[in-house]
Amino acid sequence: MDLSTKYMGLALSSPLIVGSCGLTKSVKAVEQCACAGAGAVVLKSIFEEQIVAEVDALVASGEQTLWHPEADEYIRSYGREGAVTAFLDLVRDSKKAVGIPIIASVHCVSPGIWTEFASRLQKAGADAIELNINVLTSDTRLSGAEMERAYFSVVEAVRKASGIPVSVKLGYHFSGMAGFLSRLSESGLAGLTLFNRSYNSDFDVERFELTAARFLSSPNEYVLPLRWISLLAGRAGCDLCASTGVHDGKTAVKMLLAGAAAVQTVSVLYDRGVEHLQTMVAEVRAYMERHGFERIADFRGRMSQALSDNPAAYERVQFMRHSVGIE
Ligand SMILES: Cc1cc2nc3c(=O)[nH]c(=O)nc-3n(C[C@H](O)[C@H](O)[C@H](O)COP(=O)(O)O)c2cc1C
Repeated sequence: MDLSTKYMGLALSSPLIVGSCGLTKSVKAVEQCACAGAGAVVLKSIFEEQIVAEVDALVASGEQTLWHPEADEYIRSYGREGAVTAFLDLVRDSKKAVGIPIIASVHCVSPGIWTEFASRLQKAGADAIELNINVLTSDTRLSGAEMERAYFSVVEAVRKASGIPVSVKLGYHFSGMAGFLSRLSESGLAGLTLFNRSYNSDFDVERFELTAARFLSSPNEYVLPLRWISLLAGRAGCDLCASTGVHDGKTAVKMLLAGAAAVQTVSVLYDRGVEHLQTMVAEVRAYMERHGFERIADFRGRMSQALSDNPAAYERVQFMRHSVGIE
């Protein structure tokens, strides 16, 4: 039985990827993921702000007497080097340590100076780049179209700077999302990771304080990516990777049936340890065995809505039936 698959043109020994998080922030951690059966890892993100802040702090604390345009440029470039060196080392050393694809991750909001580092990531050996684009805005005058433009301009800048496959991981707060995701999938991306899970705050009503809501996902959160992957598979211009709420092999199978090329998991590995990945891989294998599937391609996309002319109408009828049944 063969669990190998392709995602963004990369050969994966299994469709299960450890998503970007603290479990992929060191070479040792990456080795553990590979040992547990990860088909690839997405490294812990470097943040656009980390780079920019380091450059600004160096310039602000410098001796003014030393200042001249060349020094300024040197220090700025040194600052950038300082911020990214550890990350580039992680890419390079991870590549040497394991045989699985290494996907570098950049958490970003705009097409700024950092995009030039995409070429450095490529030179360091990254097999692909996942951009976690997270444009959060409280500006009530900003239209949806203006916000979407930011996504396209980041993708364009990064693609220009590097020759390796680029994917985007994003949230789901967009109007006309099917159209937006479809246009994004046609913008030269190799992959779309659906979805990122945003940080949420909560209220402590006794102390009148803001608190952090649960950071890890719950297993029932998979239904949202499942729905969008099944809607977009076969229609999108790039590969789709499932993310959020995948806590077991059965859910990974659902994502593959929906048409995902690969499946990312994070929260459950915090809860149960990275070794849980082995159980997930075994569950996918057992499912394939039960159904006589020899390859992932034998069932991938089998339950996508690609062949339906009007998935929305189908969903509406299901909802009507279900809500009538419950009342
Ligand atoms: C502790 C922790 C750290 C994370 N750090 C990052 C990060 O640096 N970059 C990123 O793109 N996503 C990050 N994520 C989000 C995950 O990659 C993933 O998209 C999200 O947790 C949903 O998947 P899950 O339900 O399997 O946890 C982090 C998640 C957790 C729980």
